[in-house]
Amino acid sequence: MNLFRATLYTLSLVLVSAGHAATTALVIDTDRAVAAIAKKLALHDAGQPDKAAYPNEAKGNKWSTVPAKDWVSGFYPGSLWYTYEFAQRRHWADQETWRQRADSWTVGLTDEQFTTTNHDLGFMLMDSFGHAYRLTGEPHYKAVVLQAAKSLAKRFRPEVGLIRSWGSIDDMKNYTVIIDNMMNLELLMWAAANGGTTQDGTAQDLVQISTLHANRTAKEFFRPDNSTYHVVELDPSTGAVKRKHTAQGKADESCWSRGQTWAIYGFASMYEATKDKKYIEQSLKAADYYLAHLPADHVPPADFNSELTGLEFKDSSAAAIACCAFFRISRLSDDPAVKARFWQAAVDTLSSLTRAPYFSESPDKASTLVYQARNYHPDANHRLTNTSLIWGDYYLLEALLTYDAGQK
Ligand code: GLY
Repeated sequence: MNLFRATLYTLSLVLVSAGHAATTALVIDTDRAVAAIAKKLALHDAGQPDKAAYPNEAKGNKWSTVPAKDWVSGFYPGSLWYTYEFAQRRHWADQETWRQRADSWTVGLTDEQFTTTNHDLGFMLMDSFGHAYRLTGEPHYKAVVLQAAKSLAKRFRPEVGLIRSWGSIDDMKNYTVIIDNMMNLELLMWAAANGGTTQDGTAQDLVQISTLHANRTAKEFFRPDNSTYHVVELDPSTGAVKRKHTAQGKADESCWSRGQTWAIYGFASMYEATKDKKYIEQSLKAADYYLAHLPADHVPPADFNSELTGLEFKDSSAAAIACCAFFRISRLSDDPAVKARFWQAAVDTLSSLTRAPYFSESPDKASTLVYQARNYHPDANHRLTNTSLIWGDYYLLEALLTYDAGQK
């Protein structure tokens, strides 16, 4: 190793000690990473006069867009709110511009608070209006979140004990639930803690719906090895399970990696909201499976059972979600060994996601996080991998801001 390389190597090691067990990790340049993401976020805003044309996915440098009712609609405003938060922390001169941008893309989601046709209200409205309220304290943002909780709660049937993910609210033939739905419980639990209720009920109903949903998800979606099913079909009258399968993974009995990360994150959030230890234990079970099957670069294949393990079949968005969940587990756990293990897992993941090949400042790519996968499908005509997805940059930003706060 020559002197120049030796110096670089020394510089690239840092003692991570901010309240965590001392560990070594590659330097993560938070300022550079956030600035690179912010630059691409600003490009979409500047080039898109319709502030309700939400970024979705891209093969090249231009996002395909979707309307407010799509499940991804909250991630772009959410990314703008995270950038505003970082701009405030660093006293950027243009921080007010970031607030205005974030608000202008949040307004278009207002009517979604009344939606009862899907389960994605947590993704859509916590990431937009939820952050808006957290960062500004303006009550009109909060009112939208509380109404969204009322709407989502209508998709719960006591006979099933789960919130319906897909399909019409009064379909008495099919009742479909997906593992992703764990992420929407944060909306209900936040509303319950902030004055929200169900349409005709109480805050306690929102808590009961969330805990019943989480409890039955733990029972029906986890296999003995703690990998998860993607989709469970039930009988809406009796609640009996009819079928377990996949829509975005390789096979019904395989483990779709992003689904696994929704489980890790969703159960960690339920622990944060309830302090019921069984939820962090469930999160840790899902995390243990994930970490035991993770390749050396800390980024999973789109499906853990896939033979297609090359870079173009990875899902870096799953890694970004896992990274956020690991930071949360590290913060919440009262076991020093768990805290240290998950801080390190998060830092290792973030370190990988903020450098090549996963981090791209190239103007040829719409997103900064690349090599994301919308789905794994055995039929290549239906498979969408090696693409840009808006939620990848959203969760990468969340991880960067969390890491940055932990360094102080
Ligand atoms: N929630 C949909 C997905 O993860 O693709």
